[in-house]
Amino acid sequence: MKRVKINKHPTVNKPARHRAYDLRCEYLVNPLGMDEPHPRFSWKMKDKRRGAKQTAYRFQAKTGGTTAWDTGKVRGSGAIRIPYAGKRLKPCTRYTWRVMIWDADHHESAWSKWAWFETGLMKQENWKAKWIQTGRIGKKNEPLPVSFFRKEFDVPAQIARARVFVSALGLYELHLNGARVGKDYFTPGWTQYDKRVQYQAYDVTGMIRPGKNMLGAMLGDGWFRGRLCSMRGYEPSFGNDRPRLLVQLMLDYADGTTGTVVSNGQWEWRIGHIALSDIYLGETQDLRRVPKGWNLPGKLKNGWTKVRSFPWPPIQVSWSCGPRVRAMQVLAPKSISKAGKDRWIINMGQNMVGWVRLKVSGKRGDRVVVRHAEMLNPDGSIYTQSLRSAKATATYIIRGDEKEILEPHFSFFGFQYVEISGLRPGPSAKDIEGVVLYSQMDRAGGFRCSSSLVNRLFRNIVWGQKGNYLDVPTDCPQRDERLGWTGDAQVFMRTAAYNMDVSAFFSKWLTDLNDAQKKDGSYPNIAPDIIPKDKSGSAGWANAGIICPWIQYQVYGDERILSRNYANMQRWMTWQSRQSKEWTRKPWGFGDWLSIQADTPKDLIAMAFFAHDSDLMSRIASVLGKTADAKKWRKQYERICRVFVNEFVTPDGKIAGQTQTAAILALQFGLVKGRRAGQLVDFLVRDIEARGGHLSTGFLGTPYLNHVLTSRGHSELAYQLLLNRTWPSWLYPVTKGATTVWERWDGWTEENGFQDPAMNSFNHYAYGAIGEWLFGCVGGIRPDPAFPGYKRFIIAPTPPPGRDGNGDRVTWAKVSHQSPYGAIKSKWKRNGHGLSIFAEVPANTSAQFRIPVPPKAKVELNGVTISRSKQVSGIAHIGDRVVCRGAAGEYRFEVG
Ligand code: BGC
Repeated sequence: MKRVKINKHPTVNKPARHRAYDLRCEYLVNPLGMDEPHPRFSWKMKDKRRGAKQTAYRFQAKTGGTTAWDTGKVRGSGAIRIPYAGKRLKPCTRYTWRVMIWDADHHESAWSKWAWFETGLMKQENWKAKWIQTGRIGKKNEPLPVSFFRKEFDVPAQIARARVFVSALGLYELHLNGARVGKDYFTPGWTQYDKRVQYQAYDVTGMIRPGKNMLGAMLGDGWFRGRLCSMRGYEPSFGNDRPRLLVQLMLDYADGTTGTVVSNGQWEWRIGHIALSDIYLGETQDLRRVPKGWNLPGKLKNGWTKVRSFPWPPIQVSWSCGPRVRAMQVLAPKSISKAGKDRWIINMGQNMVGWVRLKVSGKRGDRVVVRHAEMLNPDGSIYTQSLRSAKATATYIIRGDEKEILEPHFSFFGFQYVEISGLRPGPSAKDIEGVVLYSQMDRAGGFRCSSSLVNRLFRNIVWGQKGNYLDVPTDCPQRDERLGWTGDAQVFMRTAAYNMDVSAFFSKWLTDLNDAQKKDGSYPNIAPDIIPKDKSGSAGWANAGIICPWIQYQVYGDERILSRNYANMQRWMTWQSRQSKEWTRKPWGFGDWLSIQADTPKDLIAMAFFAHDSDLMSRIASVLGKTADAKKWRKQYERICRVFVNEFVTPDGKIAGQTQTAAILALQFGLVKGRRAGQLVDFLVRDIEARGGHLSTGFLGTPYLNHVLTSRGHSELAYQLLLNRTWPSWLYPVTKGATTVWERWDGWTEENGFQDPAMNSFNHYAYGAIGEWLFGCVGGIRPDPAFPGYKRFIIAPTPPPGRDGNGDRVTWAKVSHQSPYGAIKSKWKRNGHGLSIFAEVPANTSAQFRIPVPPKAKVELNGVTISRSKQVSGIAHIGDRVVCRGAAGEYRFEVG
């Protein structure tokens, strides 16, 4: 880092037109309880001027009036992931920080607004609390009732600051003096509990009062003791032990003294009104039995007994680096219909994840039952067969108060319809709210085009993400599964990262993935892994261990994710080698899951992904400066490519299996080159045509299908596939009223009705991976791997070249993406035979434009013939595109 003397008397007196904003620490805004010893800081530059860029920055962090780090003026455009290198961070300490930046003319800005981060306990030795648990309750392999814990404590003096640190093996809801602490749900989150659990920190200064106080918690089975996944034979995932709680409240008094209240053997517990609470089954509450005053100060007798306390379990208690699950949206019902004497069906108008919040005013003892489903049967009843063993039912026995609020605590549902029975009087729309829960992530991308069906598809993709990014990326949110399938995660991550800021979400999940890696080096098929005895390493699934960190690096410039994971990745590469003979693995795994009558050989898939991993490893090693490794992996990649061709491609270019996916993987991963590649493309096109213009791909081929077609000169066919309304296609479900992406192309068809209920989710994001093509090809915003984090990126809009088969031509499209440096925009519109393109490049970045130009057409940029324009550089004609580079600013291209 180069230090430069700061000019104390800047030459310009005018207020600067630039400043740093959106300050982040470890991807988060003002994180509380952040334990990274060298957190990384990022900011964006506000500066609308053409060519705006940062030429230097100064970072300053303070704590309690003293400076913890002042970089002085540091030259360069570095503005994302600047690692902390100041005085050693102290636990439980607030640091404030700000940034000053210098613009393209070397003028300094004013300081940014102050941001802050606050460290947590940082080390295990700073935990004084003990893990506590109820006495014996419940039965083996059966869900437990929710337990209640409480501890009264005295606050003798005025409080200046209070922080509570809390964790659980199970799910907790913390209360202080009668109120819930924080707005997070499903805390402490789902991790590989036999290795790691997270804790959360909350500022509770305003909740403490002098005198008697009451700290209490509810504790449910959650993912820790839940019976996750039928494959496990319904044993609780991490054993039959009862949930445990860990709480440490730290008080700073105004007079400078301190105090602590910790979970220990002095706490009391009892069972309350929630007899059952389970992720799949739902929740059963008898509201007449809420333990009265449990979370308020005061002695309580009936049923409260001392807890058991435990020494520290042999697992890591880590800070919560990911976003928390929150109530992100509230939906109003679309319609209410009577379904029986005492039964109503509510249509929420959207397949959503969370629960319904009911306001009721019935009679004491009335039993209100809420059942959830994604679809309706032909007779109008709710379709629950596809939930398998998930009961997905909330049952409430009500107190009979004037207005009671009914909602679960530790269970969630995936549904569009709810069937409510037992409500007196019947339901009214104003008393029903659909509470949408997902991990708090900012929206990062928008897409719109001239096709309303495609726009609905895009919304469905976003809803699929909302519904399945609930602490871990899951496959589906409704049936008895909801697991972190690694294959689903890797195929959708690129799309997800366009849609929302998933940086912190994947920082957390990639830790889960590494924690779940097996001793033999194989990555699991599910993370957190709840079936660790099962065979792992399925091709296309386990490869998430390399693919996902690489995406995280490309999109967010996160190099640390690569260095931290590198050793794990190497172990996975060794495992693949050990499993292979001449790079060939025995056919095993999930294959091209849910393809349509097109089985791609599993050994082909495994070798293709092994090659792809080798290619990525070579790139990763280069980024990390491991030149010898980079060469080694590159060689390995080339060797596998050769073996792949020998093994799976005939001299006349026929690929084994003769499936679209086989050809797609070979082309996308660059395994087959030259003439044979051309023959594969021809085969792919022919096969699509032979299927009446339809795809046949499953989970592994679909994400790359349209990319392969577009990059090989068949964008017209790619558009045709996008716009197809007959199944298998993306739009078929849309035309049938889908509001999310379906697990199967034929989840429901006019001819056959519902597919096999044993596996038929209507909220599965894998096929939503087409979103990446919408952003990256149709709209044309793409990261440039050589300049990660969108420091430099590509704008390459791809309008359909001619008329598509459906007469539903896309005539304009616009996309935006909030990159780590700021908002990127790209939009295009057909003008008769011409094309107008508008692009916006944020400050401190540059773009490479790839403008599609038909033969003989001319290009103007901001009203000037492009060859004469001073606003771009490096103008070249490459294939059917004019390529050039531009700095920050707005660009209007006219092609015609
Ligand atoms: C899940 C998938 C998953 C698969 C493995 C299914 O039950 O829902 O999305 O990837 O199992 O093949």
